[in-house]
Amino acid sequence: MSNEKAGGKLENKVAIVTGAGAGLGAACARALAQHGARVAVVDINGEAAAAVAADIGERAMSVRTDVSSEAQVKAMVSAVLEHFGRIDILHNNAAVLDDAQRAGDRDVINMSVEVWDRAMAVNLRGAMLCCKHAIPAMLRGGGGSIIHSSSGFGAQGDFTMSAYAASKAGLAMLSKSVAAQYGKERIRSNTIQIGLVVADHPLPEDIKGVILDGHLTPYLGDPKHVADVVCFLASDEAAFITGDTLAVDGGFSSHAPTLAPLRALFAARGKAAY
Ligand SMILES: NC(=O)c1ccc[n+]([C@@H]2O[C@H](COP(=O)([O-])OP(=O)(O)OC[C@H]3O[C@@H](n4cnc5c(N)ncnc54)[C@H](O)[C@@H]3O)[C@@H](O)[C@H]2O)c1
Repeated sequence: MSNEKAGGKLENKVAIVTGAGAGLGAACARALAQHGARVAVVDINGEAAAAVAADIGERAMSVRTDVSSEAQVKAMVSAVLEHFGRIDILHNNAAVLDDAQRAGDRDVINMSVEVWDRAMAVNLRGAMLCCKHAIPAMLRGGGGSIIHSSSGFGAQGDFTMSAYAASKAGLAMLSKSVAAQYGKERIRSNTIQIGLVVADHPLPEDIKGVILDGHLTPYLGDPKHVADVVCFLASDEAAFITGDTLAVDGGFSSHAPTLAPLRALFAARGKAAY
C-alpha cells in the first residue's frame, strides 16, 4: 500500500501517534503519512505497530511503548529523534479499552480501583508523559501541534465507564495547560471530543439506532471523519486554533437531550413540531 504523497500539507513534519497499532490511531497514522508526514507508530502491542508501519511504508517507523511508563516514553521519544531527527506533531490517542478494562469500568459503586488506576495511568498520565518528553524537541524545532483524543464520555455523564470518562475530562484540561504554557513558543494543543465511530464498535443494531437518533447527521462516525480532523489540527491550516476542544461527533453533544424523544413524539402526532 502506498500512503506516501510528496508535497502534502504535512511534508517535512514528523508525527508521533500513540495507540496506532489499531483502530482510530492506525487510521490517523495512515492519514498523516498520506499528507506527507513521517510517522512514528507507537503502541503497547509491538507487532500491531510494526504491521501498521510496514503498511505505511518508508515514511513510518514503529516503537513498542507502554505510554504509562515514563522510562518507555522517554526511550520512545529518543528513538523517534534518532530516526527522524525532529518532532512536530503528537497525537495522544492511546487509551486502554480492552475487554477486562471495559468489564471493570462501571458505575461508581461497582468501580474496580485497579481499573480506575489503569485508566488514569494510560489515558491521562500516558498523555502527560508523551507531552513531557516530546515538547522539548518541539521547542527546539520551533513549535508543534498536539492533539488529544477525548470522548463524549469526557464531557457528558453516562451509566458506565466512570474511570474512562474522568480520564478523558482530565485530558481536555491537560491540553489547555499545555496550550497556555507553550503557546508563545508556537506549540498548539487541542482536544477532539470523538463520538461513536462504528467501524470499531460492533454494537447491537438497536443500541446503534438509539445513538444515531441523537446525531444531527444521518450517519454515525467513520475513522476517516476523525483522521481528517487530526490532519487539519496537525497542519498549519489550524495555526489559529489552540486550547480548544472540537467535537467530532455528528452534533451528538450539541443539542438538548429532549431533541430525539420530542422528534419521535411529534412524528407520532403527525407534526414536524409542537
Ligand atoms: N472508537 C470510538 O468510537 C471512540 C469514541 C470516542 C473516543 N475514542 C478515543 O479514540 C482513541 C482510539 O480509540 P479506538 O476505538 O481506536 O481504540 P482501540 O482499542 O481500537 O485502540 C487503542 C490502541 O491503544 C493501544 N494501547 C492500549 N494501552 C496502551 C498503552 N499503555 N500504551 C500504548 N498503547 C496502548 C492498544 O494496543 C490499541 O492499539 C481512544 O483514545 C478512545 O478513547 C474512540
